[in-house]
Amino acid sequence: VVAHFQPKVLVGRKVLITAGPTYEAIDPVRGITNRSSGKMGFAVARAAAEAGAEVTLVAGPVHLPTPLGVRRIDVQSAREMLDAVLPLAASHHAFVATAAVADWRPAQTHEHKIKKNAKAGEAVAPGLELAENPDILATVAALPHPPMCVGFAAESQDLIKHAREKRQRKNVPLIVANVGPATFGQDDNALTLVDARGERELSRADKLTLARELVREIAQRLTTYNA
Ligand code: CTP
Ligand code: CA
Repeated sequence: VVAHFQPKVLVGRKVLITAGPTYEAIDPVRGITNRSSGKMGFAVARAAAEAGAEVTLVAGPVHLPTPLGVRRIDVQSAREMLDAVLPLAASHHAFVATAAVADWRPAQTHEHKIKKNAKAGEAVAPGLELAENPDILATVAALPHPPMCVGFAAESQDLIKHAREKRQRKNVPLIVANVGPATFGQDDNALTLVDARGERELSRADKLTLARELVREIAQRLTTYNA
């Protein structure tokens, strides 16, 4: 339970983690985001630091304290998250993408608050044109010497099938599948590890316990990982 009692399986390793949602501004007062709490990613950051890793946590807007010993970089949008991650990725051994990155952003961000500008009852809703955000995980995985990449997949149906497809599409060795969005903001989670060999279900537990188990898994995989 206490940090000192965690086996130091990541000493000498650098781990980069994304966490939380992203926020994509429509105008100065409105935006697109999602219900990710960031808890899973912050738990992974804490567990990795406890295991002796040098941890950098790139966090979207969340209300969580920074785990002890973790370097934190706060960002808002997916593009800011990518800009923070990319220069750091090659110097890290593992990249754990827990962030619920907004898939789309408004095609334009308005400098000033969008006004209704109409008499009551005559307001016309403005259309919202969207542009696709960069895929941070896939971008890091496509680097010449990528860190060992771990993705997360929150699905509402066909969990394993979608996780397998994501693993292949993003070309990452390990995907952690969970049944979302039911787990958003919850302290408990049920995770399934999906890799080239198959699936392994972790027993339902609180997010810190699962994060510690995932950290042991990552440490073990790093011993044989060659980019
Ligand atoms: N991810 C990312 N950048 C994005 C979208 C996703 O880095 N723009 C990462 C997430 O952090 C996660 C993994 O990719 O580790 C899977 O995210 P998910 O949203 O489940 O997959 P998508 O490819 O966006 O597919 P969809 O949302 O349609 O299921
Ligand atoms: Ca997505």
